[in-house]
Amino acid sequence: MRVLITGGAGFIGSHLVDFLLAKNYEIVVYDVLEPQVHGMNDRPPNYLAKNITFLKNDIRNKDILSESLKDIDAIIHLASMVGVGQSMYQIDKYVDVNILGTARLLDILVNKPNTIKKFVLASSMSTYGEGSYICENCEQVNPELRSVTQLERGEWELFCPICGKKAKPIPTNESKPQVCTSIYALNKKEQEKMCMLIGETYGINTTALRLFNVYGSRQALSNPYTGVCAIFSSRLLNGNRPIIYEDGNQMRDFVHVRDVCKAFYLSLTKRRAKNQIFNVGTGEAVSIKQIAETLARYINPEIKPIVSNKFRPGDIRHCFADISKISSELGYKADITFKEGIHELIEWVKLQQGKAKDKSDKAYTELKEKGLLK
Ligand SMILES: NC(=O)c1ccc[n+]([C@@H]2O[C@H](COP(=O)([O-])OP(=O)(O)OC[C@H]3O[C@@H](n4cnc5c(N)ncnc54)[C@H](O)[C@@H]3O)[C@@H](O)[C@H]2O)c1
Ligand SMILES: [Zn+2]
Repeated sequence: MRVLITGGAGFIGSHLVDFLLAKNYEIVVYDVLEPQVHGMNDRPPNYLAKNITFLKNDIRNKDILSESLKDIDAIIHLASMVGVGQSMYQIDKYVDVNILGTARLLDILVNKPNTIKKFVLASSMSTYGEGSYICENCEQVNPELRSVTQLERGEWELFCPICGKKAKPIPTNESKPQVCTSIYALNKKEQEKMCMLIGETYGINTTALRLFNVYGSRQALSNPYTGVCAIFSSRLLNGNRPIIYEDGNQMRDFVHVRDVCKAFYLSLTKRRAKNQIFNVGTGEAVSIKQIAETLARYINPEIKPIVSNKFRPGDIRHCFADISKISSELGYKADITFKEGIHELIEWVKLQQGKAKDKSDKAYTELKEKGLLK
């Protein structure tokens, strides 16, 4: 099997390369080496495996992209701009890379002769907006975003949209309506819809994976626009305090990158993945404060995170995965516990001392200037 991985030089992509090489796949990586992720580099990052074909090019370059599909059996489409906040003021760039880039790829599959038998897309939990909740009186409810006036009162938790009682977060499954609250999330939802539609229409076996918060080594520590573990780690390495929004008790589902690789592998190989969408997480909720405190304790114990009580309008409070669909259909299970995974990450982060620039003040200022941080 020859697999083309778009965005394969990035964090998830490079781990996927290693994972699939170990299963004897041949790999072609197609990646523009976006400077925000890779710095000003013409050559692939050192961590990227050498026994692959590497093509440095833009997903929007249709001719080159088309040539790169020669003799490819499967595509894993990861190439994306990935900053949620940044997507709200670089709308043109995000739509161009994420939507038009995906459109070009699908256009080739439909209109040019090719050997593609499988297509897997990295979608995102961000497409859900708020996660699912339960109310004592009304059972499962899907509250909308908290209003700015509620947030200004420091009332962080969600209320039942029917009876007004406090609602409790529960795991979110794939049937939850996708209520996108950023351009990035809308892009991912649109990618998903386009890929599933074209897949079904033309009989291309397609799978979309809604990844939750992926963490692990190689996540770009100098990219301040994405990845809370990477952002906190970079601040700690540079002697700065991690800044926690709200009260820090908001919960996410942190899934280790190797478990994510396994989900991609199952999507490539299992018949039941055909034309399906799956959550990929652990099913366990971890608070942002817990992440910040654990990282601080082991990376730079002199430093305490700041609980800022500031907020970003549009941020969700809680979202963690219900993974029963992927477990029962594909036999997926998250093998790496949070404790194991975070300590592995910490060991890697410590080795990056001196290499990781903390640019999060710039990202913070940009958000503030645009009124996206209150
Ligand atoms: N990391 C997460 O927590 C997470 C969660 C949900 C979904 N995802 C999705 O997973 C995929 C991979 O994310 P990641 O965390 O590895 O990010 P990353 O930024 O490390 O990797 C993305 C790669 O895409 C490349 N790229 C960007 N624009 C490109 C273009 N125009 N042409 C070709 N290549 C381009 C970048 O150079 C980079 O190597 C993305 O589609 C992202 O939306 C990630
Ligand atoms: Zn209720």
